[in-house]
Amino acid sequence: MKLRGWMLALAGLGAASATAAAQDVKSPSVDQYVPRLGDIMSAAQRRHHKLWLAGKAQNWDLAAYELGQLKASLVEAALLYSGIPVSNVTTLEAPLQSASAAIAAKDGRKLANALGELTEGCNACHRSMNRSFVVMKVPTDQGLFGNQEFAPKPRP
Ligand code: HEC
Repeated sequence: MKLRGWMLALAGLGAASATAAAQDVKSPSVDQYVPRLGDIMSAAQRRHHKLWLAGKAQNWDLAAYELGQLKASLVEAALLYSGIPVSNVTTLEAPLQSASAAIAAKDGRKLANALGELTEGCNACHRSMNRSFVVMKVPTDQGLFGNQEFAPKPRP
Protein backbone atom coordinates (compact mmCIF):
# COMPACT_ATOMS: atom_id res chain seq x y z
CA MET A 1 0.00 0.00 0.00
CA LYS A 2 1.28 3.48 -0.82
CA LEU A 3 1.98 5.73 2.14
CA ARG A 4 -0.89 8.10 1.39
CA GLY A 5 -3.34 5.22 1.02
CA TRP A 6 -2.15 3.74 4.25
CA MET A 7 -2.55 7.02 6.05
CA LEU A 8 -6.06 7.47 4.74
CA ALA A 9 -6.87 3.94 5.88
CA LEU A 10 -5.39 4.72 9.27
CA ALA A 11 -7.29 7.98 9.50
CA GLY A 12 -10.47 6.07 8.70
CA LEU A 13 -10.09 3.75 11.66
CA GLY A 14 -12.67 5.75 13.54
CA ALA A 15 -10.53 8.65 14.65
CA ALA A 16 -11.93 11.95 13.47
CA SER A 17 -8.95 13.77 14.93
CA ALA A 18 -6.53 11.71 12.83
CA THR A 19 -8.47 12.66 9.69
CA ALA A 20 -8.39 16.31 10.64
CA ALA A 21 -4.68 16.22 11.38
CA ALA A 22 -3.90 14.45 8.11
CA GLN A 23 -5.75 17.15 6.21
CA ASP A 24 -4.23 19.99 8.19
CA VAL A 25 -0.64 18.99 7.58
CA LYS A 26 -0.96 17.97 3.92
CA SER A 27 1.13 20.75 2.46
CA PRO A 28 2.94 22.88 4.98
CA SER A 29 4.39 26.02 3.44
CA VAL A 30 7.49 27.80 4.66
CA ASP A 31 5.51 30.40 6.56
CA GLN A 32 3.68 27.72 8.51
CA TYR A 33 5.10 26.33 11.69
CA VAL A 34 6.39 22.82 11.16
CA PRO A 35 6.88 20.92 14.41
CA ARG A 36 10.22 19.24 14.89
CA LEU A 37 10.17 15.47 14.75
CA GLY A 38 11.30 15.27 18.37
CA ASP A 39 8.34 17.44 19.38
CA ILE A 40 5.88 15.25 17.47
CA MET A 41 7.48 12.25 19.21
CA SER A 42 7.17 13.88 22.63
CA ALA A 43 3.45 14.29 21.96
CA ALA A 44 3.31 10.64 20.86
CA GLN A 45 4.99 9.68 24.12
CA ARG A 46 2.36 11.45 26.22
CA ARG A 47 -0.45 9.96 24.20
CA HIS A 48 1.03 6.48 24.41
CA HIS A 49 1.17 6.86 28.19
CA LYS A 50 -2.34 8.32 28.50
CA LEU A 51 -3.77 5.59 26.30
CA TRP A 52 -2.41 3.01 28.71
CA LEU A 53 -3.67 4.93 31.76
CA ALA A 54 -7.15 5.35 30.26
CA GLY A 55 -7.29 1.63 29.45
CA LYS A 56 -6.21 0.75 32.95
CA ALA A 57 -8.94 2.98 34.36
CA GLN A 58 -11.41 1.44 31.87
CA ASN A 59 -12.27 4.87 30.55
CA TRP A 60 -12.96 3.68 27.00
CA ASP A 61 -14.03 7.06 25.60
CA LEU A 62 -10.78 8.61 26.76
CA ALA A 63 -8.79 5.61 25.49
CA ALA A 64 -10.40 5.97 22.04
CA TYR A 65 -9.58 9.66 22.05
CA GLU A 66 -5.94 9.15 23.05
CA LEU A 67 -5.53 6.41 20.44
CA GLY A 68 -6.81 8.84 17.79
CA GLN A 69 -4.38 11.48 19.03
CA LEU A 70 -1.48 9.03 18.98
CA LYS A 71 -2.33 7.99 15.42
CA ALA A 72 -2.47 11.64 14.42
CA SER A 73 1.08 12.14 15.78
CA LEU A 74 2.38 9.17 13.79
CA VAL A 75 0.61 10.29 10.60
CA GLU A 76 2.02 13.77 11.07
CA ALA A 77 5.55 12.41 11.53
CA ALA A 78 5.27 10.36 8.34
CA LEU A 79 3.77 13.24 6.34
CA LEU A 80 6.22 15.89 7.43
CA TYR A 81 9.43 13.85 7.58
CA SER A 82 10.01 12.04 4.32
CA GLY A 83 13.26 10.50 5.63
CA ILE A 84 11.27 8.17 7.86
CA PRO A 85 11.19 4.67 6.36
CA VAL A 86 7.56 4.05 5.43
CA SER A 87 7.74 0.39 6.46
CA ASN A 88 8.59 1.47 10.00
CA VAL A 89 5.31 3.32 10.15
CA THR A 90 3.12 0.82 8.33
CA THR A 91 4.16 -2.03 10.66
CA LEU A 92 2.35 -0.15 13.40
CA GLU A 93 -0.93 -0.59 11.57
CA ALA A 94 -1.70 -4.04 13.01
CA PRO A 95 -1.15 -3.11 16.68
CA LEU A 96 -3.05 0.17 16.18
CA GLN A 97 -5.95 -1.79 14.74
CA SER A 98 -5.82 -4.31 17.60
CA ALA A 99 -5.86 -1.45 20.09
CA SER A 100 -8.88 0.04 18.35
CA ALA A 101 -10.71 -3.30 18.43
CA ALA A 102 -9.78 -3.84 22.09
CA ILE A 103 -11.21 -0.44 23.02
CA ALA A 104 -14.41 -1.12 21.07
CA ALA A 105 -14.71 -4.43 22.93
CA LYS A 106 -13.82 -2.74 26.26
CA ASP A 107 -11.16 -5.43 26.72
CA GLY A 108 -8.31 -4.23 28.93
CA ARG A 109 -6.22 -7.36 28.49
CA LYS A 110 -6.36 -7.13 24.69
CA LEU A 111 -5.50 -3.46 24.85
CA ALA A 112 -2.45 -4.24 27.01
CA ASN A 113 -1.31 -6.84 24.45
CA ALA A 114 -1.79 -4.41 21.58
CA LEU A 115 0.16 -1.75 23.47
CA GLY A 116 3.00 -4.20 23.99
CA GLU A 117 3.23 -4.81 20.23
CA LEU A 118 2.85 -1.14 19.47
CA THR A 119 5.66 -0.24 21.86
CA GLU A 120 7.92 -2.78 20.17
CA GLY A 121 7.10 -1.01 16.89
CA CYS A 122 8.15 2.36 18.38
CA ASN A 123 11.47 0.86 19.47
CA ALA A 124 12.08 -0.96 16.18
CA CYS A 125 11.96 2.36 14.36
CA HIS A 126 14.16 4.05 16.95
CA ARG A 127 16.75 1.29 16.54
CA SER A 128 16.66 1.53 12.75
CA MET A 129 17.13 5.30 12.85
CA ASN A 130 20.13 5.41 15.18
CA ARG A 131 17.97 6.30 18.15
CA SER A 132 18.27 2.98 19.96
CA PHE A 133 18.83 4.94 23.17
CA VAL A 134 15.20 6.14 23.03
CA VAL A 135 13.57 3.08 24.58
CA MET A 136 9.85 3.10 25.15
CA LYS A 137 8.16 0.58 27.42
CA VAL A 138 4.65 -0.37 28.37
CA PRO A 139 4.11 1.99 31.30
CA THR A 140 4.63 0.68 34.77
CA ASP A 141 3.13 3.60 36.65
CA GLN A 142 1.51 6.99 36.31
CA GLY A 143 4.71 8.91 37.04
CA LEU A 144 6.00 11.34 34.46
CA PHE A 145 7.79 9.43 31.67
CA GLY A 146 6.68 6.11 33.16
CA ASN A 147 6.70 4.75 29.59
CA GLN A 148 10.38 5.30 28.90
CA GLU A 149 13.43 3.32 29.92
CA PHE A 150 16.21 5.58 31.17
CA ALA A 151 18.85 3.12 32.34
CA PRO A 152 21.57 2.65 29.72
CA LYS A 153 21.73 -0.71 28.01
CA PRO A 154 24.99 -2.58 28.59
CA ARG A 155 27.04 -2.30 25.38
CA PRO A 156 27.58 -5.60 23.58
C1 HEC B 1 8.97 5.63 11.85
C2 HEC B 1 9.92 5.82 12.91
C3 HEC B 1 9.45 6.06 14.32
C4 HEC B 1 8.38 5.50 14.96
C5 HEC B 1 7.37 4.49 14.42
C6 HEC B 1 8.38 6.04 16.29
N1 HEC B 1 9.41 6.91 16.45
FE1 HEC B 1 9.83 7.97 18.12
N2 HEC B 1 11.43 8.80 17.20
C7 HEC B 1 11.82 8.59 15.90
C8 HEC B 1 12.98 9.41 15.58
C9 HEC B 1 13.72 9.46 14.25
C10 HEC B 1 13.28 10.12 16.76
C11 HEC B 1 14.39 11.15 16.97
C12 HEC B 1 13.87 12.54 16.68
C13 HEC B 1 14.95 13.58 16.81
O1 HEC B 1 16.10 13.25 17.07
O2 HEC B 1 14.62 14.76 16.67
C14 HEC B 1 12.30 9.70 17.76
C15 HEC B 1 12.29 10.17 19.07
C16 HEC B 1 11.37 9.81 20.02
C17 HEC B 1 11.35 10.30 21.38
C18 HEC B 1 12.35 11.27 22.01
C19 HEC B 1 11.81 12.67 21.93
C20 HEC B 1 12.56 13.62 22.81
O3 HEC B 1 12.67 14.79 22.40
O4 HEC B 1 13.02 13.24 23.89
C21 HEC B 1 10.28 9.73 22.00
C22 HEC B 1 9.86 9.92 23.44
C23 HEC B 1 9.63 8.89 21.03
N3 HEC B 1 10.31 8.95 19.85
C24 HEC B 1 8.46 8.17 21.29
C25 HEC B 1 7.86 7.32 20.37
C26 HEC B 1 6.69 6.50 20.65
C27 HEC B 1 5.95 6.45 21.97
C28 HEC B 1 6.42 5.80 19.51
C29 HEC B 1 5.36 4.77 19.26
C30 HEC B 1 4.02 5.04 19.62
C31 HEC B 1 7.40 6.20 18.52
N4 HEC B 1 8.25 7.11 19.07
C32 HEC B 1 7.44 5.69 17.23
C33 HEC B 1 11.23 7.72 15.00
C34 HEC B 1 10.10 6.96 15.26
